[in-house]
Amino acid sequence: MKVLIINGSPRLNGNSSKLIDEMIQIFDKEGIQVEQYQIGSKAIRGCMACGYCHEHHECVFKDDVNRLAGIFKDSDGLVVVSPVYYGSANGSVISLLDRMFYSSNFDKRFKVGAAFAIARRAGTTATYDELNKYFTINQMPVASGRYWNNGFGREQGQIERDEEGLQNARIVARNMVFLMKAIQDAKEKYGLPEAEEIKYTHFIK
Ligand SMILES: Cc1cc2nc3c(=O)[nH]c(=O)nc-3n(C[C@H](O)[C@H](O)[C@H](O)COP(=O)(O)O)c2cc1C
Repeated sequence: MKVLIINGSPRLNGNSSKLIDEMIQIFDKEGIQVEQYQIGSKAIRGCMACGYCHEHHECVFKDDVNRLAGIFKDSDGLVVVSPVYYGSANGSVISLLDRMFYSSNFDKRFKVGAAFAIARRAGTTATYDELNKYFTINQMPVASGRYWNNGFGREQGQIERDEEGLQNARIVARNMVFLMKAIQDAKEKYGLPEAEEIKYTHFIK
């Protein structure tokens, strides 16, 4: 089983990285393969709504987004950890997720998602909600924990003093492994639920 971890921070060894390390300890112990990408300092531009992906099922911009979509396709779970910038996930994370989810058309149903928001002080619950929306519009179950997944710290490494946040990261990682295994077993036993052809309406017809 494999988990793709996206670290939205531009800072090497920042607070997002420390929280991810805590999750990886659990994934390693459980024999889950991890592919981690730190995208915060990369030039990931936003979606320009050109529609190229409607036909080609990949983004017109040939950068990390298409590469990460390929890894996501082969993964059982996706972890997204973002620093909070002005009460939201940072810009690189949003640009990446908009383009990765919108441009790809592989079946994302029952891949397990987990999101974390890291902040100095505020904006974590709004950011957590924002990130979970990418999962819940795609029939992806969310691995939850003991809080609305957050971690606190300002300077690099300060999150090490947020014992509760790091403990929650371990709990979420364990819950995620459990869900991925349970879903794999259930897929073998029952198969995925019947998929309907999706209807797109936009309230004017
Ligand atoms: C541009 C910018 C905006 C920020 N906005 C917020 C904010 O809205 N709320 C907050 O609590 N912290 C804010 N912070 C602080 C970061 O979220 C905090 O330092 C976090 O630990 C960074 O995570 P990292 O070490 O993984 O990069 C902001 C930092 C930057 C650089």
